[in-house]
Parts: sequence; C-alpha cells; structure tokens
Amino acid sequence: MKSIEMNYTNPFIEVNEDFIVIAPSYDDDITELISSFIDYKNNIIHLKGFVGSGSLNFDDKYCFNAKDLSKKYNKPLLFTFEFSGTDEDISNFKKEVKQFAITRIK
Ligand SMILES: Cc1cc2nc3c(=O)[nH]c(=O)nc-3n(C[C@H](O)[C@H](O)[C@H](O)COP(=O)(O)O)c2cc1C
Repeated sequence: MKSIEMNYTNPFIEVNEDFIVIAPSYDDDITELISSFIDYKNNIIHLKGFVGSGSLNFDDKYCFNAKDLSKKYNKPLLFTFEFSGTDEDISNFKKEVKQFAITRIK
C-alpha cells in the first residue's frame, strides 16, 4: 500500500491510481486543502472514499472534515476513528479498505 502525506504547502499531487483520503479534523482549512488535492488534474476519477480521524469530545463536529468531504464529493465515509485509533480500529479500517481492493494492505 502506498501512502502520501499531504501538507499545507503542496496539495497539488497527481495520483493515477485509486485512493482514499484519511482526513484529520481541525478546521475548514483541512477541507479546502483536501479539496485542492482532489480537484487537481484527474485525481477525482480515482477517489474512492474518505476516512476521518477526530475526537468524540467535539460531539456533532466529530470528524466533520471527512463528513463534509464525503457529502461534497458524494463518496462514502468508510470509517472514523478517534486520535490514532485503537488496535481494533486499525483492524476494522483494514477490512473496510480491503473491500475497495485498492491494493494489498500489509
Ligand atoms: C484545535 C483543535 C481542533 C479540533 N477540532 C476537532 C473537530 O472539530 N472535530 C473532531 O472530531 N476533532 C477535532 N480535534 C481533535 C483532533 O482531530 C484529534 O486530535 C486528531 O484526531 C489528531 O489525533 P492526535 O491528536 O492523536 O494526532 C481538534 C483538535 C484540535 C487541537
């Protein structure tokens, strides 16, 4: 499995294979940054869905960036987890992602 870590300075990365986006939850800048990445070149063609990381302390704003993006691009919110995720979260995450057969997960 290949992963790309995005940063604020350069979201303009071309991806030519199917991908999911794991979005942290902080503020609207995150949604804008990830949108710039998705809208770049033909990236949107390969977009399969979103995963959110957040904190349940934020109640109805829990993982709002991933949820907003899911609605905006009409792609599934595959999974959410708190902070860095528990072992169980990681296992469930892998199951969800495998369903999309993006690539083999180690
Ligand atoms: C300033 C700030 C704002 C945050 N806002 C949200 C939020 O709106 N929704 C949410 O689910 N989590 C929110 N979080 C929690 C982070 O998403 C959480 O810390 C994140 O999952 C990163 O995990 P880590 O702290 O283990 O790196 C916020 C955290 C900070 C510091």
